[in-house]
Amino acid sequence: MVQAEREHWKTRAGFIAAAAGSAIGLGNIWRFPYIAGRYGGGAFVLVYILLLIFVGYPVMNSELLLGRKTQKNPVGAFKMLAPGKPWVIVGFMGVLAGFIILSYYSVVAGWALSYILKSGTYMAAGSDIGNIFVISISSTFGGIFWHTLFMLLTIGIVYGGIEKGIERWSKILMPVLLILLIILVIRSVTLPGAAEGLAFYLKPDFSKFSGEGFLAALGQVFFTLSLGMGCMITYGSYLKKNEDLPLNAKYVVGADTLVALLAGFVIFPAVFAFGLEPTTGPGLTFITLPAVFLQMGLAGHVFGSIFFILLTIAALTSAISLLEVVAAYFIDENKWNRKKATIVMGIAIWFLGIFPSLGYSTLSTVKVIGGRDILDSFDFFANNILLPLGGLLIAIFIGWFWGTDKALEEANQGANTKLSTSYSFLIKYVVPIAVFIVFLNSIGILR
Ligand code: PFF
Repeated sequence: MVQAEREHWKTRAGFIAAAAGSAIGLGNIWRFPYIAGRYGGGAFVLVYILLLIFVGYPVMNSELLLGRKTQKNPVGAFKMLAPGKPWVIVGFMGVLAGFIILSYYSVVAGWALSYILKSGTYMAAGSDIGNIFVISISSTFGGIFWHTLFMLLTIGIVYGGIEKGIERWSKILMPVLLILLIILVIRSVTLPGAAEGLAFYLKPDFSKFSGEGFLAALGQVFFTLSLGMGCMITYGSYLKKNEDLPLNAKYVVGADTLVALLAGFVIFPAVFAFGLEPTTGPGLTFITLPAVFLQMGLAGHVFGSIFFILLTIAALTSAISLLEVVAAYFIDENKWNRKKATIVMGIAIWFLGIFPSLGYSTLSTVKVIGGRDILDSFDFFANNILLPLGGLLIAIFIGWFWGTDKALEEANQGANTKLSTSYSFLIKYVVPIAVFIVFLNSIGILR
């Protein structure tokens, strides 16, 4: 059968921008700082970094090498390496996770998009900032409008393909993100009273660090690195054989970690400098921070807009990777062309996203999993069930079924930074045990 040749990343920098763009997202900018603060600041950060090295890095390599080996989407990859075996289900779980995560990720990203303008206009009107969220997000039309706009941006980029869509835009957006982030860090840490926030963020408080903190750290490692759902299998499938895969993986993990740590330097000093409480969840980003910007006066308009541009860019480069997983499956396995795959699947995901969006307005009384609203329920199902289970199975597949010798051979092809037997040890024992514990916890068995 003659097939069109698979697209590839044009340059190493392009791949790193795209993969780091996938990893760096809402998970880094609002989720990481808040859980770090909650579970003992510096103590949490320390454990988080250890887990990144011993769990995140090996799993990142595993996904990338499965992709590069097979040159396929997650479903195709497992079909090829384990024909006729149930492993293909892991691939399907990944595609499903991509579908579900993007549906609500786009809703939250749409809020960020709307705030780029709103943080300025509402502040000028001097209205109650806590109400911005209520006014703009919980109008039925408003929520769906911004979600729609964000999905259109996502579809537009993925439609362009690997090199001309994802790679090109990531190479533009990621440097912008870094510059905006640095501007905000400088502003935040030089505010009078910033030190208290820095202390809250970084001073290791082991009394606040618990088993639960450990589990939160491991869960965060998966989400933030886009692992467990075949996203990095998909991105790895566009890597050329002569690329130094372990080195690329190092850059991606490093960039993601840097941005998460810097986000903490933006948020905590600012929140403390203005005497506000570091609250949890969407509130920290969408209610507390606008209040901070409001108190900065005129400059707050500028910094507020910069912050939400930053958040939107981070979310956009992650959203395209989520759509790419779903699209790649239909392109490879069902022989759809890229245009059809991105448009049809983009619309389907957009449609599903209407429900979590309405969960903040018309459907606000609907509770699904364990009293959670619709958006939270989607998030719980994907992040607490599909991702850890996917990560666990990918490690078991390589460690105990396909074989770490074959994995090493693939990863080390074209590499100067070679993976060694310590990779095999981590993938066979450390990763499965650690992830299994997290998984039991996340579905409530350990509580
Ligand atoms: N890594 C993204 C973040 O930190 O926001 C979220 C994500 C993107 C998860 C892509 C999974 C994925 F496949």
